Amino acid sequence: MDALDALIQPGRVHRSLYTDAEVFVAEMEKVFGGAWVYLAHESQLPEPNDFIATRLGLRPVILTRDADGGLHGLFNRCAHRASTVCQAECGSARRFQCSYHGWTYSNRGELVNVPFVEGYPATFDRADHGLALVPRLAVYRGLVFGTLNADAPTLAEWLGPAGPLIDEFVDRSPSRRLQVRNRQRMVYRGNWKLAWDNAGDGLHPTFAHRSFLVLNERQHGGARSLSQFKASPDDTGMYGLDLGNGHMFVDQRPGLQQSFWETQRPVPGREWYEARISERFGDDSADVLEMAPGSMVNLSIFPNLLIKGNTLETVDPVSVTETRLHTWVAAAEGAPDEVNVLRMRIAEDFPSLGNPDDLEIFERCQDGLAIGEVEWVDMSKGLDHEAEEVSADGVRRAPVTHEGPMRGYLRAWLELMSADAKLTTARPGEASFEKAA
Ligand code: FES
Ligand SMILES: [Fe+2]
Repeated sequence: MDALDALIQPGRVHRSLYTDAEVFVAEMEKVFGGAWVYLAHESQLPEPNDFIATRLGLRPVILTRDADGGLHGLFNRCAHRASTVCQAECGSARRFQCSYHGWTYSNRGELVNVPFVEGYPATFDRADHGLALVPRLAVYRGLVFGTLNADAPTLAEWLGPAGPLIDEFVDRSPSRRLQVRNRQRMVYRGNWKLAWDNAGDGLHPTFAHRSFLVLNERQHGGARSLSQFKASPDDTGMYGLDLGNGHMFVDQRPGLQQSFWETQRPVPGREWYEARISERFGDDSADVLEMAPGSMVNLSIFPNLLIKGNTLETVDPVSVTETRLHTWVAAAEGAPDEVNVLRMRIAEDFPSLGNPDDLEIFERCQDGLAIGEVEWVDMSKGLDHEAEEVSADGVRRAPVTHEGPMRGYLRAWLELMSADAKLTTARPGEASFEKAA
């Protein structure tokens, strides 16, 4: 692996970030071990003894809630000979029994039973053979994160200016809480950072989503969601933010000429639900309907959580050239059922209908990156541009088509990749928990 800092230059990035297996191995250790990584939403394990399977990079994790409601990040790795002990994606379990030789663990990670225990040495103590735990867990507004890095800042510090933007997203719900519902999964043949580049990219919709834009216009007229990218997106006032620590924000709201609801394309049942809401809420129905469409912002929490529209999407690396995306629709807790049904239908419109465009492009990028002799990827738009503003908290704001947010996350990437972070695991009962908000 070449010296890392030579791979990221002002305005360009070396192709090996996307193609080099050694870089990928280091990322899985240092970025997905050293940063706070999003694991799941609390609403996915609401009851005592619920659990959900997730990953910290390539490390399989079972996030559990014990009988007393406490959260634990158990590594899904038997302390005996390493088999995963949980094969289900989610469910309810007080115990996890390994299928290989029957060692059984509590949902706090303690080893509670070893079959045929005769024959182990006298020094064998079950307390030394629990599941390894993610040593630090933290929750911010229902979003659960974990890190292996003993020296990482608190989650609140790590999120920094992204925290209030998460608040804004969550506070669209009447009860100021989200409930994560069903999921869509997609796989693409490309590096995980192609999705990350794209999440802060307001330059591509005009072109990559052209067929969607044209169809949109033809069927529903102008001024619909995404029409703001049809021509000269920077003239609309839309902007991007580099929030620090790799977090990015794209705000499409200045590009809208009408309310979110009026901008929304037809979805199945739209008229029927709209009529029901207007019957039930009368003069307030415009405000109620406004909760249904997506948030019109893209908030990306490095390294693996993309908040877009009304969805939480996780970027789940599989190999240097393969990535899974999981898209979960977030229902607004406390909102009428009609609103949440519309949220589901609208999530099927965009981003869902747009994702295949992006995934096709990611695979084309990965194909292009295979040419070893053509080394650099350009990300210079907006570099040293007068329209880029930096605020007191270090947030850099730029017109939406600029590539500043990408340069920002690569700075965070380089910092994590160059750090000599102390990555650890914890024993059952010894992990720390931070309630950040
Ligand atoms: S590998 Fe789990 S009991 Fe042997
Ligand atoms: Fe896109």
